[in-house]
Amino acid sequence: MSRKPIIAGNWKMNLLQSEAKSVFEGVKNFVKDYTAVELPTIVIAPVFTSISAVQSVECTCGCGGKKIAIAGQNCHWESSGAFTGEISVEMLKDAGCDYVIIGHSERRQYFSETDEMINKKAKAILRGGLIPIVCCGETLEQREAGVTDSWIAGQIKNALDGISSEDIAKSVIAYEPIWAIGTGKTCDADEANRVIAMIRNVVKEIAGNEAGDAIRILYGGSVKPSTIEEQMSKSDIDGALIGGASLKAESLNEIIEKTMKLSLVH
Ligand code: 13P
Repeated sequence: MSRKPIIAGNWKMNLLQSEAKSVFEGVKNFVKDYTAVELPTIVIAPVFTSISAVQSVECTCGCGGKKIAIAGQNCHWESSGAFTGEISVEMLKDAGCDYVIIGHSERRQYFSETDEMINKKAKAILRGGLIPIVCCGETLEQREAGVTDSWIAGQIKNALDGISSEDIAKSVIAYEPIWAIGTGKTCDADEANRVIAMIRNVVKEIAGNEAGDAIRILYGGSVKPSTIEEQMSKSDIDGALIGGASLKAESLNEIIEKTMKLSLVH
């Protein structure tokens, strides 16, 4: 079993093209001194209109731009058609994306995304040869009511329903407690690890031990350079999905560097 850490930046609805380019440039300049083997898997999810802008940032180390993967922040499950305002997996792939974030709590909350829609998106992403980053997480009310584990287990079972073990093994899950997103309140690392281990067990239940051991599960919610070492030192936390702290190259680079120094392969 070996799970390479993932450091993923979710830029949400932030950064104009020139700003996105400049942050991306800052990360590229940092990663150029390391090999892809030394680095964690690095993923950045810009807004759709900045995907080509960040890809135009020249790579100076000869890696051909392979050290930073691009993710879409959302997708539709159909490949084309009359779906105004939507974007398909094929289009994201065509634009150079390797990953797609789905089921983020902001999309569930503000755009009424359901587990069923997230399942259709996950299947479309895998069919298209990309990797879904499936988000899950509980509200503060659910946590206080003691239903965190059952709620998240349900989200995961629904999101992965009907997907083969092989596809589940290459997917990514992000556990993002809603009360920790953008609030500065990081979930205690031991508790995040406990929930993530629980998610891994749910994956083992539905897809077998091999898939459960292989799938990479990230923590998200107010991750900062000062929190990453403790989070990454936990047995089941395979990386981070980072909002605010990924908007500046300095903080994202510090997170990447600290992850690398721990040289953790779970
Ligand atoms: P913050 O890191 O800003 O809390 O955002 C987390 C998140 O929602 C990443 O998807």
